[in-house]
Amino acid sequence: MKSNSELHQRRQNAIPRGVSNSLAVYADRASNAELWDVEGKRYIDFASGIAVLNTGHVHPKVKAAVAAQLEKLTHTCFQVTPYESYVALAEQLNEIAPGTTAKKTIFLTTGAEAIENAIKIARFHTKRSAVIAFSGGFHGRTLACISLTGKVQPYKVGFGPMLPEIFHVPYPMAYHGITVEDSLQALSQLFKADVDPQRVAAIIIEPVLGEGGFYAAPPELLRKLRALCDQHGILLIVDEIQSGFGRTGRMFAVEHAGVEPDLMTVAKSVAGGVPLSAVIGKAEIMDAPGPGGLGGTYAGSPLACAAGLAVLEVIREEQLLNRALHIGHFMTSRLKGLQVRFPCLGEVRSLGAMVAVELVRNCSADSPDAELTRALVQAAARKGLIVISCGIDANVIRFLAPLTIPDAMLKEGFHLFEQALEEVASTKLAASA
Ligand SMILES: Cc1ncc(COP(=O)(O)O)c(C=O)c1O
Repeated sequence: MKSNSELHQRRQNAIPRGVSNSLAVYADRASNAELWDVEGKRYIDFASGIAVLNTGHVHPKVKAAVAAQLEKLTHTCFQVTPYESYVALAEQLNEIAPGTTAKKTIFLTTGAEAIENAIKIARFHTKRSAVIAFSGGFHGRTLACISLTGKVQPYKVGFGPMLPEIFHVPYPMAYHGITVEDSLQALSQLFKADVDPQRVAAIIIEPVLGEGGFYAAPPELLRKLRALCDQHGILLIVDEIQSGFGRTGRMFAVEHAGVEPDLMTVAKSVAGGVPLSAVIGKAEIMDAPGPGGLGGTYAGSPLACAAGLAVLEVIREEQLLNRALHIGHFMTSRLKGLQVRFPCLGEVRSLGAMVAVELVRNCSADSPDAELTRALVQAAARKGLIVISCGIDANVIRFLAPLTIPDAMLKEGFHLFEQALEEVASTKLAASA
């Protein structure tokens, strides 16, 4: 039998450190919300491969759809000989995208590629070049995406220069005293001091900050951005890569605000673990670039489109939007219950099943405890639970259990989290005594 430590040694020799691992746990197989490592140890998965598995690991329907497609063909390149599943999935996404304006969809492979394409389309349509993004936002690791990402370490440092004409404004974070008014004020200042709004092609925003720490944009902000964009002819791009496909209790998180974006980027849970991303947008805007300006060899591969069609069926049939609300409610009420016993637990926040808790020192929002957060992730794994962290100060634990997780396993997973918390909190107490 292979061991985790042996594989980790090989990994360190063969793979650069720039690709980091939160755990030295080498996955062997997985099913729904459970994962087994190469040593046969079982884990409950509250990370879902960073929000990719809203429909769980290897959902039988997704597996069957991919297997059936494997029997037929795996690749033609949509730009050479197209195929129905690409068209059918685009039709369905156009149908469920927020708002009443007619939509069109292009498929890509990664989230970053979807972001890149959304920016290209916005620039072509508006004939403008500047883009406004938010501090703390994360949009991927390609050069355009790191320019948009609002966090220097580790995403931008050493990789410059960034794309020109990208501006950042603060994302509202009530817990840290940043209000919607502060964000809007910063935008207004930006238009006065740095960039003419007539040069701005797009404002891009995550309706819930993913890597940035699971802060949900208040609906008021999204509505005001919509109005501001309309006023200046700017496009509103909503990045639903982490928050989409039922995670927040709606198909897309922006629906909570009743706002129709001009362009929307999706990836991660769109195809239940098969690489796929998309830009879904108002038809007239999506049609701006000429033939050949968009696409990619593997973009919207037959295997991924087959998986994507199955995912939409599963979300509908298993009523995963309701499950997201149920899971979110369970998690937040249990976490709030723990706050009484554990003063290191700061704000608990959620939008549906996008749930997070901040770890702080002395009950203070201004004293993030990244060290404790790292220790908690490791302790949870030792007990058999996979959780991951996020946040601009790396002190947030995010919970992204598959929406298909059975209640008993959800409870079992949370119990493991509680045990891990007890362990790290008591170790910390002993160390400070
Ligand atoms: C909101 C958001 N946008 C973009 C990306 C980039 O996606 P990918 O890693 O597939 O390129 C991510 C990935 O975590 C994300 O969470």
